[in-house]
Amino acid sequence: FFFLPADFVKSATSLAMIPENTMIPEVAFIGRSNIGKSSLINGLVNRNGLVKTSSKPGHTRMMNFFKIGDKLSLVDMPGYGWKSRDEWGGMILSYLQHRKNLKRIYILIDPSHGLKESDTQIMKLLDGSGLSYQVVLTKVDKLSKTKYSAAKAQIESQLVKDAICCFPMVLGVSSKNKDGLDDLRAAILKAGQL
Ligand code: GTP
Ligand code: MG
Repeated sequence: FFFLPADFVKSATSLAMIPENTMIPEVAFIGRSNIGKSSLINGLVNRNGLVKTSSKPGHTRMMNFFKIGDKLSLVDMPGYGWKSRDEWGGMILSYLQHRKNLKRIYILIDPSHGLKESDTQIMKLLDGSGLSYQVVLTKVDKLSKTKYSAAKAQIESQLVKDAICCFPMVLGVSSKNKDGLDDLRAAILKAGQL
């Protein structure tokens, strides 16, 4: 499925610009700047260079819509931390709340840094709107297996305590060495009922 042709659809800087509600299932990737959102989309569709990435935080400045065949829509978001919280919260939260074909929100966290206040604030906003989300730990290649397991356990225990609408299963991925991508693809297909 993920080897169907993937294409760029549209960039949007405001709600008025987002592609019209379609019947195609959609999933969105959010997280702090530089967490690896854009790289993850390239990894998922197996096409480096479809989405522009950068070592400098704040690279993605618009909501960018991609599609796989005519079957699935993927949305790359600006990182929170680049846009001010109000601006991020305003535009993106509104999109997340009103998008009818949005099947799941993936919130990306770097396990070497753990949950930051900005992450828990966003989760509170999502919880407040009853929007379910799933946590994906990124760049797992940077940690040893032992350190990764410890970091994951720590994050999971925080989520159980604080995050209401969080999907219980936390996934781990590396866009660099492709670890965990198949599990995430499977989760996306399930979320999109594909
Ligand atoms: P913004 O658009 O600024 O919000 O960032 P982003 O979340 O889209 O991050 P992006 O995908 O541009 O990646 C940021 C940096 O992290 C780049 O230098 C990537 O090469 C690096 N990176 C992304 N994924 C991985 C990974 O799985 N492993 C490692 N080691 N580095 C990664
Ligand atoms: Mg980006």
